[in-house]
Amino acid sequence: MDHQYWENRYIDNDTPWSLHHANPALIRYMADKNRDASILIPGAGTSYEVIELFNMGFTDITVCDISATALSLLKKNVEKTLQKDHSIRFVHGDFFALTGQYDYIIEQTFLCALLPEKREEYVRKMFDLLRENGTLFGVLFATPFLKPGPPFGGEKNEYKSLLSKLFYIKEISMCTHSVKPRQGNELFFICKKLVNPHFL
Ligand SMILES: C[S@@+](CC[C@H](N)C(=O)[O-])C[C@H]1O[C@@H](n2cnc3c(N)ncnc32)[C@H](O)[C@@H]1O
Repeated sequence: MDHQYWENRYIDNDTPWSLHHANPALIRYMADKNRDASILIPGAGTSYEVIELFNMGFTDITVCDISATALSLLKKNVEKTLQKDHSIRFVHGDFFALTGQYDYIIEQTFLCALLPEKREEYVRKMFDLLRENGTLFGVLFATPFLKPGPPFGGEKNEYKSLLSKLFYIKEISMCTHSVKPRQGNELFFICKKLVNPHFL
């Protein structure tokens, strides 16, 4: 699954993961957050959350994807919908090569797109990309899949042991605001990069 694999999926319009609207579970979580916060969406694809978040008043938003076609579709939609100057940054490239630090990183069908052997590296990279007290949150598939991936599923306990290596897990539970096709098979999780866990 190199960048060409993902590029072809977008070129062929073979993107069943796209909701074609913002995921209510993700938007809900950001509703009461400081509008000055910086947000990263890695493996963003054609993320509809970007427009929604911008309209909510978040201006410091960075999206990253390895597929140039995905980013160009997203950019087109952002420019068409927002019809005003925006400050959204589009980074074409590999998540594992990203630099910078963010207050919030949003996970949605990105971990499941990576080979399972990359999961530890994913956690490390997420940790490095977060500011102190920053938050990684989002949705994860709640069960493994029988068919070979992507998507590669997983289980709550597996995610817990993976994420707890570096993060304080504030929540990981069945998502109560999943879109219909994902209801019952989606976990919502919140992980904090704590400066000093003893002050919790
Ligand atoms: C299953 S899609 C999900 C897209 C989007 N998150 C959504 O929910 O619509 C996975 C996305 O991750 C991107 N991707 C895969 N590997 C990546 C990597 N190493 N760095 C950045 N993006 C990557 C793919 O191009 C694709 O857009």
